[in-house]
Amino acid sequence: MIRKLLLMISAVVLVFSMLPVSDAYAGPEVKCKACHKFTEKNNVGPGLKGVFGRKAGTQPGFKYKFTKYIKGDAWTWNEENLRAWIDNSKKAVKKLTGNKKAKTKMQPQHVTGADADAVIAFLKSLK
Ligand code: HEC
Repeated sequence: MIRKLLLMISAVVLVFSMLPVSDAYAGPEVKCKACHKFTEKNNVGPGLKGVFGRKAGTQPGFKYKFTKYIKGDAWTWNEENLRAWIDNSKKAVKKLTGNKKAKTKMQPQHVTGADADAVIAFLKSLK
């Protein structure tokens, strides 16, 4: 009897675990959600809607910590720059500014390879 009940419970659990998750952000980009919204709203980090193709440091209303380094005319968020940024933002900001002292508040996320492809594709889709 107990065994049958346990079997039934595990069958139900199995079925539920196979159902598609209704969260739209189920890929590696969930990592970003701790600090970013995927809309124009700012959070700990700037809102990421429309970030692809946008100039760095230009999200309206967001107070960048190091505006000395991240400022509007510095660089544009293209594929290459985003890839460097989501792998290691601390290193990327130095490279992108050409200033060894440049800093950013964002911690390195170490998102690389296929995960980076997925995150960038996702960011591109946020229009
Ligand atoms: C622990 C918090 C945190 C996490 C997690 C995080 N970020 Fe950030 N991010 C920030 C902060 C804070 C800034 C603003 C940097 C500054 O002020 O120096 C930022 C800035 C950025 C920028 C620059 C935007 C602009 O307007 O120029 C991009 C792009 C970005 N993050 C992408 C991502 C992506 C993609 C992920 C997930 C892989 C991610 N971030 C994860 C905190 C975070």
